[in-house]
Order: sequence, then structure tokens, then C-alpha cells
Amino acid sequence: MEDTTKLNTSKLGTQQYWDDFYAVEKSNFEENPQDTGECWFDDSNAEEKMVDFMLDHLGQFCIDKNSSMIDLGTGNGHLLFQLHEEGFGGKMVGVDYSFKSVEFAQEILKTQYQDSDNFEFSAADIFDPNWQPPKFDVVLDKGTLDAIALSGLKMANGESIVQAYPEVIEKLTKKDSVFLITSCNFTEAELKQIIESESLQLWQSIKYPAFRFGGQEGSTICSLAFVKK
Ligand SMILES: C[S@@+](CC[C@H](N)C(=O)[O-])C[C@H]1O[C@@H](n2cnc3c(N)ncnc32)[C@H](O)[C@@H]1O
Repeated sequence: MEDTTKLNTSKLGTQQYWDDFYAVEKSNFEENPQDTGECWFDDSNAEEKMVDFMLDHLGQFCIDKNSSMIDLGTGNGHLLFQLHEEGFGGKMVGVDYSFKSVEFAQEILKTQYQDSDNFEFSAADIFDPNWQPPKFDVVLDKGTLDAIALSGLKMANGESIVQAYPEVIEKLTKKDSVFLITSCNFTEAELKQIIESESLQLWQSIKYPAFRFGGQEGSTICSLAFVKK
């Protein structure tokens, strides 16, 4: 059977694409402060479902209103801002390898959330071995593994960048940390296969409307939560 965890490459897997993308989004925002840019997977309500998941699971594992959180490939930082709006007040770190994304998220922070001192947006390639972040209660990914997979890049040791991704999560988590990821490129089964290990166990999945095709049932998007043992 074809290994569908190996996707075709695309310009969405290049840093140049994201720099150009966020440069445009930032200039749109400067012209119209209501326009905070693309909210990835908006059609499926993914962001709201991720925030609701966090609210519904307060008190479980490391999830509480003061949880420290990191959003990988944060883009405009919208997911973190939304969690903040829903009362999450712990340290919120957004990281992205596109400097333009970081500038954009910082500008939204400065203009709309100037009284909040718990946010930090910084530029880093999450695969850079010199990137030494602390551990977090909650690690978030909305669409970033999807973009990463489209790069088709390989690590120095020859493994694919997708195979290396769980090592990034390993580095960022401690016992009872929660990793919540939303993808449109991978099915639930594929995501589980990529992420799950002895130390990172599948905990929950978020339900989305399903479709049936050719006798198979599926959905166009999936969100899974894993817990660090
Ligand atoms: C599909 S966008 C999703 C953005 C945001 N999470 C959202 O939901 O709107 C993918 C993001 O991943 C970032 N990204 C891709 N590869 C990365 C890497 N190796 N390190 C850090 N960020 C990366 C891109 O710059 C882009 O902002």
C-alpha cells in the first residue's frame, strides 16, 4: 500500500512562500486593523474547536487556565490570541521560522493586546538543533506539520522532516504535557502513526463532520490530542 504520510512537495513548504504571505497580510493589517489575516481551517471551525477542547478539558493533565503554551508555526498568532480571549492567562509563546509572521503577530499584539505581558513571539526553525526552548504544559500545531510535510526536506541523518517532527514535540514536553494538533493533510490514522510513541500517547480526538466516499468514511480535517507519559 502507498505510504500516504509522504506527501508531494509544494511551494507551501518553503520559507519564502510564508515570508511573502505574511508580508502581504501585515500590510493589509496596517491598512485595515480589523483584518488580522487568514485563519487557517476556518471553514471547519478548527480554531474554535481547539479552544473549546482546551476549555472542556480544564483540570486534566497539564491543562488549566495558567498553562504555559507554545504554538508551533504560529503565523498571525490568532490561536494564542483566541485562547487568551477565552481566559487562558499563562505564558503564551508563538514561534515561526518566518520573520514576517513574527513581525505581524507582534504588531497585532502591540495594537490589540497591549496590556498583556504574557505573550512572546519569536523566530525559530523548530528543527534547528540550536533552538533550545523550555518545556511547556501545552504544545499546539494548527496546519504547521502540513506545511512542513510539503517541504519534502530531509534531516542531516537522512530521516524525513516528518519523521523528525515527534523529536521536536519530545523536546518541548514533560510528563502530562498535552500536544494538540490539527491537520488537513493527514488522516487520524496517519497522524497517530507519525506522532505516537511510548512516551507520547494518543488521548483524544476532536470530531468534525464526516463524509462518505467509495464505502469509506472520513473528514477533511482532524485534530488529535496526545499526552506525554
Ligand atoms: C499553514 S500555516 C499555519 C499558520 C498558523 N498555525 C495558523 O493556523 O494560521 C504554517 C506555518 O508554519 C510555519 N512553519 C513552517 N515550517 C516551519 C518550521 N520549520 N519552523 C517554524 N515554523 C514553520 C510557516 O511559516 C507558517 O506560518
